Amino acid sequence: MRRIAAKFAASLLLGSALIHPADAQAAPKPSSSQLPANDAAIDARVEALLAKMTAEEKAGQLSQFFYFAQIPAMAKGVDDQIAAGKAGSILFTTDPKLLNRAQKMAVEQTRLKIPLLVGFDVIHGLHTIFPVPLAMAASWDPKLVERSQAVAAQEARAVGIHWTFAPNVDVALDARWGRIVEGAGEDPYLGSAMAAAQVRGFQGSYIGAPSHIIAGPKHFAGYGAAMGGRDYDQSEISENQLHNFYLPPFKAAIDAGAGNIMAAYMALNGVPAAGNHRLLTDTLRTEWGFRGWVVSDAGGVDALRTHGIAKDGTEAAVKAISAGTNMEMVPPGQKAHMPSLAAAITEGKLTTAELDAMVRPVLAAKFRMGLFENPYVDEARAAKVLADPAHADAARAAAERSAVLLRNEGGLLPLDRKKVRSLAVIGPLADSQRDMLGPWIFSMNNPSAESLLAGIRAKVGQGVTVSYSEGVRIPARVNPSPFDMMDGKRTKPEPIDEDAEIAKSVALARQSDAAILVLGEAQNMSGEKASRASFDLPGRQKELLDAVVATGKPVIVVLMSARPLAVQDSKAAAILDIWYPGSQGAAAAANLLFGDAVPGGKLPISWVRSAAQAPMTYARLPSHDPTDAAKRYQEGSNEPAWPFGFGLSYTSFAYSNLKVLTPKVAPGSPVNITVDVANSGPRSGDEVAQLYIHQKHGTSSRPVRQLKGFERVTLKPGEKRTLTFTLSPEDLRYWSDATRSWIEDSSDFEVWVGGDSTASLGGSFEVGGR
Ligand code: BGC
Repeated sequence: MRRIAAKFAASLLLGSALIHPADAQAAPKPSSSQLPANDAAIDARVEALLAKMTAEEKAGQLSQFFYFAQIPAMAKGVDDQIAAGKAGSILFTTDPKLLNRAQKMAVEQTRLKIPLLVGFDVIHGLHTIFPVPLAMAASWDPKLVERSQAVAAQEARAVGIHWTFAPNVDVALDARWGRIVEGAGEDPYLGSAMAAAQVRGFQGSYIGAPSHIIAGPKHFAGYGAAMGGRDYDQSEISENQLHNFYLPPFKAAIDAGAGNIMAAYMALNGVPAAGNHRLLTDTLRTEWGFRGWVVSDAGGVDALRTHGIAKDGTEAAVKAISAGTNMEMVPPGQKAHMPSLAAAITEGKLTTAELDAMVRPVLAAKFRMGLFENPYVDEARAAKVLADPAHADAARAAAERSAVLLRNEGGLLPLDRKKVRSLAVIGPLADSQRDMLGPWIFSMNNPSAESLLAGIRAKVGQGVTVSYSEGVRIPARVNPSPFDMMDGKRTKPEPIDEDAEIAKSVALARQSDAAILVLGEAQNMSGEKASRASFDLPGRQKELLDAVVATGKPVIVVLMSARPLAVQDSKAAAILDIWYPGSQGAAAAANLLFGDAVPGGKLPISWVRSAAQAPMTYARLPSHDPTDAAKRYQEGSNEPAWPFGFGLSYTSFAYSNLKVLTPKVAPGSPVNITVDVANSGPRSGDEVAQLYIHQKHGTSSRPVRQLKGFERVTLKPGEKRTLTFTLSPEDLRYWSDATRSWIEDSSDFEVWVGGDSTASLGGSFEVGGR
């Protein structure tokens, strides 16, 4: 992998004219390839091509292969499939030269010259890495998220990728599940906003827009409810939760125009996802009108066998197709099952019409992306696009806006450069470059980041003494991460004497004006196959933290993780959560620490006190005894350490004057609410105003609070703004198990607006009397 990375780096140095997509779009007369394709024209081209195809060629279009083109021994088998017209799509090569080579085989050596659709996991960036998606959700800034994914799309399209397996829109109430890092957290409303923003960012205003790629929201559906938070375990989700929690972000992504969907791995209520007709056909296509194509997760078609609903590969392929899975993602070394569809037709297990229906959207995507006109990319231009400095600026802004300040006693942050002349930077993540980037990045794309230590040193310059101690090591996972092999070779660090390192850390803190402890989880402790059963700081980090705090020096914890960690009882004066902040995370965090940026992010998850509290949602139902809602465990409070929506700033905000302009409305009418938010502190800053509702009575029991609106605003000291929120009838609708339908009750509602999910400024309205 290292060789691959080096090779890619070399290709970055090539270059010719720089073409910005923005320039291209600003041109007075866009060329025909820059206009949305006309549906009827696409349909006609699809039908003409389909009419020429054999059943084998159709099945080929439904097969997607992992393609490691950099490794000739692994590539050979797939090269043969491509040249034989048996591969409709490939994934996992990102080198433009190798992708051009693969396309050349497809368009020059196959009978029908159908180009390949190239997919890849562009999750939080390709070469320029953005904060992990959970962090992006913490920005509560859909425009920022859209812009960031547009940058990722631009890089991806430049190298020859047409389609990303993203966004991950799985709602996750259980942070034991490592893939919580890839989504937007626990809330369906925030999750829907993030889903739609990412689809718009990846795809632009239409499928085939220049410098954009197709979005494939995943994993349809219910993957985030893995039992016990154990990745891949079954999901058992009630109809109530499925409709009201897990499906809305998918619906939002489809409404935003997503061209693809990935089916999940696991069985939902006993039905494996790639064979789930109800979800893939009834809900997705019939109810929601999805016209794109569904890809299985890696090996998801074969998994119908291992899940126990197909006796062999042929039956798995037929069941997947019949349920609504168009394309099989075939893992390395595994046999493709879609080719068996040709025989299945002969044997009467499937009709040609059924097969054609599944091939159409795949061909349509290729026409829409303009691949028949131009399957190749300009390799020199690709290198220029990846090196565009504007991308780094976008990544820095994203990292600054997604950090969450959890504690700031005595206004310790921002650090005062005039007073702090010496700093001890301590901890196992302080001098790590790789961990800044987070999971779902690949060494072959040559991503890079400075460590936080380097970022702090660059920020303070010569005038401040910065000392460093690693303190302790984060122990390696007991079950190693299978993804580490994608990470390139790294030399194993020399072991350290942790007792001596802790002593050194204490000594450094004693001789400094303040200590910054960079603690948390290594990046490979989040992501796929990365569940945890404990939210304690791994290894001896707590001991290190306690020892440094005991010096009495001001201590700032900078936390890196994508799940809550049990830091709430520590006496550190300040805690800043930077998640995994990406390529520009070091500069961003240094700006935040020294006040050149002000934290404004808010938690997209409830910060539970320990793994024992998971799963959790602030949007729980009321019980028969609401008076003791916080005391369900005999050990004490079951409330989280920090609630959903929480985050501090270097300034403060005051809410007042909440007015429901429409206190009584008929069902189906909008409700308008205004509220004043003022910056009551000493400096400019951002606040995320959040609106929550509660329906007091009706057909089903409704959550004690539900997020139904938010806006991130920047306010100068003393500035006051009146915000207007409109609740649409959609916002008041919910799926009721009592009627097994969507309903809007006539009812009384409470409404609150404030800086987190415990907001106290409230009002009420009534929906009733048609
Ligand atoms: C993951 C998907 C991913 C695919 C391809 C699977 O293991 O579940 O999210 O898109 O691999 O990398």
